[in-house]
Amino acid sequence: MPKAPASGRAPGRSVAQAQYRQRAPHYDAELLVFEPVRAHAIALLGLRPGEQVLDVGCGTGLSFDGLRSRVGPRGRITGIEQCPEMLARAEARVAACHWGNVELVEAAASEAEFQGLADAALFHFTHDILRHEPSLDNVLAHLKPGARVVAVGLQWAPPWAWAANGFVMAAAMYSVSRLDGLVRPWELLAARLEDVEVESTGFGAIFLLRGLHAPRAH
Ligand SMILES: C[S@@+](CC[C@H](N)C(=O)[O-])C[C@H]1O[C@@H](n2cnc3c(N)ncnc32)[C@H](O)[C@@H]1O
Repeated sequence: MPKAPASGRAPGRSVAQAQYRQRAPHYDAELLVFEPVRAHAIALLGLRPGEQVLDVGCGTGLSFDGLRSRVGPRGRITGIEQCPEMLARAEARVAACHWGNVELVEAAASEAEFQGLADAALFHFTHDILRHEPSLDNVLAHLKPGARVVAVGLQWAPPWAWAANGFVMAAAMYSVSRLDGLVRPWELLAARLEDVEVESTGFGAIFLLRGLHAPRAH
């Protein structure tokens, strides 16, 4: 397993890509336990038929089915993913399901370019992206004013939840390129949004944030 670099270093793109290159073949099975959280996160987006939604750090596209069931065939899903091996699995999923309204962008979140402004954005287990301000700025620049934003991920649980924190440590070492920011992983995103609400689940080890894009607020 690639080592996570010490706190304070910039998010390592090469470290993150190596992590997910290795994980891609068994990623979907590993994430099964989080499917109820994913379903909740997608519901929080409040998507309507015909809307466009960004799936930031979309991985193998595990959220596409749930997103598509809400935006419908006239809506649009844009998946942004920097790891070619993860994106290849997303492409295979889209092709197998004959989804004509899922666009895939192979790029870092800080550099991704695509047409139009979206109605909503999902950050599902994307700690590295949430801790990288240029990534947040670029994603939010592709959202309509008032767009709904939902983020989900690992965070340190309260100290009494030692077992949950053991899980967070193990999962983070395996899935993020930097361990800092796990106290409030969502704070850089929250600072850019309005009407932010944050809830926790999994003994406090998983956060769910929702808020509205407010272009003039920062
Ligand atoms: C834990 S996976 C989550 C995948 C998906 N959102 C899900 O819920 O199954 C994190 C994903 O974010 C991608 N990623 C990490 N940093 C990124 C960045 N800066 N830009 C784009 N994708 C990134 C990784 O390659 C990986 O596929």
